[in-house]
Amino acid sequence: MEPVAIGQKIHYYKGLPSTQDLAVSMAESDSLILNGTVVMAERQDNGRGRQNRRWVSPPGGLWLSIILKPTLHANRSTLINFIAILAICEAIEAKTCLQCRVKWPNDILVNNKKVCGIIVDAAIKGNYIYYSVVGIGINVNVNIQTIIQYLEPDSKTGNCITSLKAEQSGRFVNRRSLLQIIFERLNYYINSIERENASMRVLSNITHRLEGIGKTLIIDRADCRTTGQFIGLCSEGSLILSDADGAIFKILGQDVSI
Ligand code: BTN
Repeated sequence: MEPVAIGQKIHYYKGLPSTQDLAVSMAESDSLILNGTVVMAERQDNGRGRQNRRWVSPPGGLWLSIILKPTLHANRSTLINFIAILAICEAIEAKTCLQCRVKWPNDILVNNKKVCGIIVDAAIKGNYIYYSVVGIGINVNVNIQTIIQYLEPDSKTGNCITSLKAEQSGRFVNRRSLLQIIFERLNYYINSIERENASMRVLSNITHRLEGIGKTLIIDRADCRTTGQFIGLCSEGSLILSDADGAIFKILGQDVSI
């Protein structure tokens, strides 16, 4: 695969409904689109979170979507989520004095509160990924009260979200240099994705940051609830759990509570 250079081509907007929707339609409509193309906006009016949730995106955050065209078997597509998460954790830690933890599959927490969410929309052709659009929302310098006022009045989410600025006692984070480090880390990991030992390193780095490792997890699916002890991650990105009888099973992509 040609090395990817994320951030070489950036489509920047003052406002958009959703960078993710625009990036997906660009990837769909232009088969020659440059691998690593970024769509970003200062604010989004219809930001999209996972599971059809709204993502409130006022000015001050980093709201971006990255179009990737990796040579990657479809059954390893979750690796893209992990790479994005790891790159962002490392960038936040390099740029601030904050420690990041990961709530599987796609949230980054600082002091137990969500500071970043990731959504990945992928299209598969044959057995391989055709494109993967990684949508990243980071509450960098946003005022959390601005976000909370858009949430449902009885929503408990407000207590669980934060911004980098809030966790640094009001100190602003330079968004441009944070973004620069995110691109550097992403380029590094994406360009090593095809090497088996590199992807094992990504998994092991993520595992160290995971909330709930060793604990009993509850996995809610559309039709049932499963519980099991969380013992690790496997190379195609699934969660590995063991049930009460010690039997090992894997879970891919649902929301988890600890
Ligand atoms: C989540 O935690 O639910 C994922 C949130 C992802 C939000 C980002 S912001 C940039 C991109 N554009 C969107 O509409 N959504 C993603």
